[in-house]
Amino acid sequence: MTTTLNVNGQPRAVDADPATPLLYVLRDDLQLHGAKFGCGLGQCGACTVIVDGQAALSCITPLSAVGARPVRTIEGLGSVDKPGVLQAAFIAEQAAQCGYCIAGMVMRAQALLERNPAPTDAQIREHMAINLCRCGTHMRILRAVRRASDMLKSAATAEGPRHG
Ligand code: FES
Ligand code: FES
Repeated sequence: MTTTLNVNGQPRAVDADPATPLLYVLRDDLQLHGAKFGCGLGQCGACTVIVDGQAALSCITPLSAVGARPVRTIEGLGSVDKPGVLQAAFIAEQAAQCGYCIAGMVMRAQALLERNPAPTDAQIREHMAINLCRCGTHMRILRAVRRASDMLKSAATAEGPRHG
């Protein structure tokens, strides 16, 4: 069955069973390999993407549950030459060891900062708790999210107050 997804702002037609996990479609059909297969059971967060503004575990999200809602993957945040704010913050904090969990970490953090650009440390910890890092870089990851939040606040201050 053909389904048209909206992925990183582009319509993408895929021919897949509606029960297929979104993760498989992203990786196998659309060649977007940023989201990773960790547990396949909704227990590690390596597969995290953003669906309709919310962090979603793509390994347990069937295609049929996505529909026309916008899907965003780490490929949509930036590139090697032009990293997004969170990607730049993760690089600055050297927050990856093996890197396997990092795309999921970045996407979960992205969902938080879009909703709340200035979260408290407690809010960051609570929001990120579901995503696991086997290398134990959690403290660097938390620092990277804080750094990205600070970068966003500086940018907002430089822009000045908005009127109208
Ligand atoms: Fe999806 Fe582990 S691979 S939560
Ligand atoms: Fe290796 Fe997180 S950096 S699992």
